[in-house]
This record gives sequence, C-alpha cells and structure tokens, in this order.
Amino acid sequence: MWQRTACARKTGGSSSRAGSRPCTGCRAGSCRRNEQGIDVTRVSAAVGAQVECGDVKALTAATFAAVHAAFLDNVVLLIRGQQLTVADLLAFGRRFGELTPGAPVHIGQKPRDEQYPELAIISNVIENGVAIGGLGDGEAVWHTDSCFNDVPPSCSILYAVEIPPTGGATGFANMYTALDTLPAALRSRIAHKTIKHDKRYTSGGQLRPGFLAEQDIRESPGPSHPIIRKHPETGRSALYLGRRPHAYINGLPLAESAELLDALWAHATRPEFTWHHQWKLGDILIWDNRCAMHRRDALDPATRRIMHRTQCKGTPILEGV
Ligand code: OGA
Ligand code: MN
Repeated sequence: MWQRTACARKTGGSSSRAGSRPCTGCRAGSCRRNEQGIDVTRVSAAVGAQVECGDVKALTAATFAAVHAAFLDNVVLLIRGQQLTVADLLAFGRRFGELTPGAPVHIGQKPRDEQYPELAIISNVIENGVAIGGLGDGEAVWHTDSCFNDVPPSCSILYAVEIPPTGGATGFANMYTALDTLPAALRSRIAHKTIKHDKRYTSGGQLRPGFLAEQDIRESPGPSHPIIRKHPETGRSALYLGRRPHAYINGLPLAESAELLDALWAHATRPEFTWHHQWKLGDILIWDNRCAMHRRDALDPATRRIMHRTQCKGTPILEGV
C-alpha cells in the first residue's frame, strides 16, 4: 500500500513506523514512502522520480512491486548507485516484462554480442575504427523509442557504465501532461487521427541501412499509430508523437500536417513539461515509452560515454480519448 507522507527532510521528523527511513535527496519538497521503506521522491514537477530501493539485484517481489508502481506513477524512474554486469541489467529488465531483442546495429558498428541479444550499447566510443555502440556523440532529438515499429517497446532501461565530465544529459517530457494541457482547439484537430512514423532514420539522424533518403513522407516505410494513445496499464491517455522529422498526419495535405505537427511539438516540449538528467556512474533510468518522450544532449567527441540499454516488449497500441 502506498501512503503519502510528509517529507522527513522538510519536517525534520522521521516516521515512527518500523523499518522506515527519512527521505533522502528530496528536491521537490514531497516524497512518498511505502511499507517496504522505499522513498519515492519527485525529481521535478514535470516528470520523474528517484527511488531508493537499495541494490536492484536483491529486490524482493514486494519491493519490486513498489518500484513498478512508482514507475507507472512517475513515467521515469531514477535509481542510483548500482553496480551491474550485463547479465544483472538484463535480469533486472526482465522483472519489468519480457525483453525485446535489440534492433539491428548500424553500418560500421560492432556486431551485437551474441551472448546478450537483448543488450544495446549506446556509445560514442570508437575502437580500432569500429563504433562499439549507437547514437554517436551528436544530439539525439526528442523521440520515443522505436515508434516506427508496429509494436514499440513499453519501457527502456539505460544504465551508465562510463560517462563524460560534461554533456550527454538525457531529457524527458511528460506526454500525459502534454495531452491534458493541450488547448481545446488543437485537441479537437487530432481526435481519431494517426501519425505515420518513418522507419528510415535514427534519433541521431542517421539513415538506417537499406532505406532511401529521398522519399515522399506519405509513402515512406513505417506504421501509423493513433496520436492519442491509451496506456494499457494506467488507462490514462497520452500524446504519442514519436519524432518530428519525417512524420506525417494521415489524411491531411502535407502543409497542414506539418503545421499541426509543429504546433503539437511546440506544446509537448515546453520546458515546464520536461526534466533533464545529468548522469552519474551507476545510475539507472527507466522510462515509459507509452507516455514519455526523451532526448539526449550532444557531448564532446573527445570524451567517452558508454551506456547499456535493454527494452521490454510492448503490447499493441490502443487509441485513447
Ligand atoms: C536510447 C536513447 C539517450 C541517451 O537509448 O534510446 O535515446 O541518453 N538514449 O543515451
Ligand atoms: Mn531513445
């Protein structure tokens, strides 16, 4: 059972309940604590919470249930101070759901480790002329993961193995809030509309192998998904935009689609709906692709960033209202 409690740090008191600890790291002025003693602290008004659950390798079923509830409530979770092998990360990921095999790696990128098909390496490091992972050192524009698949992953779990001294922060935007605050005139224009999600490019702007750069976006490869999607676990509706470049709202003239998409994107990425995380070694971020978008800042190419990622299989997208 979840209980809203006064933040111990703010009140200076600590709960008398056996096994509970004072809240640590509370920056937003409120925290929730459950009966297993996990502190859940909002990291911003917009989106995200930090949970303190100890070593994720040692979570009991009850404690994991509390972590999972915090994930559904807060859209993005930060868990710090972990030490995980690849096998540990995948085992933790499996507690959120069946893992999905990683997407094919790019041309010039090191092949995936056959022992761990569900591991993706996100890195700018080049060894012997070969990129050890994806996304390079440039900016990754706002996106949700693999929106260009018929059934995109439900959640993504990213673990910091090596981080640069500056740059490479990851930002998140809350798509429940984006929809809830959408002006009525815009909301009425997207009712029952779908977006065509283009498969050709990565969020880092690279053309995927085997695709053509010059193509009418109405005919580009990729599935269409409802703009308003219903979260299968929370039942809440969220805006589902995918990514801006090469997107198209089915049925509209090209110029009208572009104008409406620009208006939706300007709203959805307003700074007050976002939170940006500066990584520390041992951090895990878990985000919900059904109700969040994310982006990554560029980093200094002379520095190294290595992240391990795994993702859980999603379920067919439901239309929301
Ligand atoms: C991803 C992604 C951002 C980052 O792994 O899907 O967008 O900060 N990563 O590496
Ligand atoms: Mn991504």
